Amino acid sequence: MFNKTPHCTDITILTLDRWMVLYIFNISMSFYFFLKLAEKDGVGVKHTRDAGWCGSDCFPLKKGELKTGPGNSDSSALGNAPDAQRVSNGTPASWDPQVLNCSEDASVRTQDWFRRLDQRFHQFVLHRHCRYFPMLINHPEKCADGEVHLLMVVKSVIEQHDRREAVRSTWGREHTVDGRKIKTLFLLGSPTTGKDTKNLQKLIEYEDRLYGDILQWDFMDTFFNLTLKEVNFLKWFDIYCSGVRFIFKGDDDVFVNTHNLLELIGFKLEERKEPQLFVGDTISKAIPIRNRQSKYYIPKELYDKPYPPYVGGGGFLMSSQLARRLFVVSEDLELYPIDDVFLGMCLQKLHLVPEMHPGFRTFGITRRRVSPMNSEPCFYKHLIVVHKLSAQELLRMWSVVHNEDLVCAQRTSM
Ligand SMILES: *[C@@H]1O[C@H](CO)[C@@H](O)[C@H](O)[C@H]1NC(C)=O
Ligand SMILES: *[C@@H]1O[C@H](CO)[C@@H](O)[C@H](O)[C@H]1NC(C)=O
Repeated sequence: MFNKTPHCTDITILTLDRWMVLYIFNISMSFYFFLKLAEKDGVGVKHTRDAGWCGSDCFPLKKGELKTGPGNSDSSALGNAPDAQRVSNGTPASWDPQVLNCSEDASVRTQDWFRRLDQRFHQFVLHRHCRYFPMLINHPEKCADGEVHLLMVVKSVIEQHDRREAVRSTWGREHTVDGRKIKTLFLLGSPTTGKDTKNLQKLIEYEDRLYGDILQWDFMDTFFNLTLKEVNFLKWFDIYCSGVRFIFKGDDDVFVNTHNLLELIGFKLEERKEPQLFVGDTISKAIPIRNRQSKYYIPKELYDKPYPPYVGGGGFLMSSQLARRLFVVSEDLELYPIDDVFLGMCLQKLHLVPEMHPGFRTFGITRRRVSPMNSEPCFYKHLIVVHKLSAQELLRMWSVVHNEDLVCAQRTSM
């Protein structure tokens, strides 16, 4: 895959395309953190300077990092976390899918329906049986020290560095509110073929050295592989983070009002609905889209029934208890190319219906994208999740909404 031997001189800026130069520029803004990190690791600042931009290749990895071993080897760091028991009672809590052998299922090719099937689904169907993949970047220690109240889990791709930066400085900022700890993770696959795989991989490893909030699996980060992100995360969560109370799962281009989200969690705790908590922008009675132009087009050969109720994947809230139940039933279901629908299928297997909440606007505040309402801060102040903002829009909206001078005189309604 990628070269792990320490060598620092092989990245020449000249070979990077413009996007990557921008990326590196962005990263250089974070140089301060880099130095802090280097100090924390006991890596001399001089070494740091010499290292230039070569990312994790320059530093011998600490045990337990990037590897898929049984958690942080420093057992004191495990503290009283629920996972500590899993580790100490002899059950090896580690990521076991080590060897990647996802050869295509050749038997499918001989079938009639496969020959009729739209070409763009061929890859999906041929590799449908491959479910769990090796990890390239892991953080077994993420939930190890003390209870995490809310885990923010964000689907992203390597190239969207600016969105991750915006999320980290707004709703995904790791901090503690009234004793309730919030942590953040980004879920990534590997670069798709045709891209500058080697340099992209180095950049993401470098970014992870700075922030320690990336989980990366060795499958191609394509649209139809999003369901892999779902199932690999559920398994990962079950192993490493099951002591978390709640999970918010969303895209890297949404606005989340963290305060309102915590308030919603508070209400749900009072209602004692934790075991079946799954809240979002629910879509009921949908049928597969047969318009071939659509990104969500599904041919009859693949699925020919109405969809179960499901929530828009842009952002939803679930309890840890339910996430673990979803993991169990997901293993008996064939993968489906649309990840939100796949989760709907898992919920149906549990005989659960996701709860609709008007605060989750994963299709925008109004479905008309040009509507001025979509840029009205007072809506953002009263909602929980809003789709779909650029990194700049997110940063701007976050600061406007959190400005004490923002006056929202009337209760906003539509
Ligand atoms: C992968 O699996 C297939 C069938 O299970 C087998 O024929 C093939 O030799 C395996 N390849 C590797 C590299 O292990
Ligand atoms: C998903 O990722 C696997 C592993 O990288 C790859 O073999 C497969 O073709 C991908 N599937 C799609 C539909 O992109």
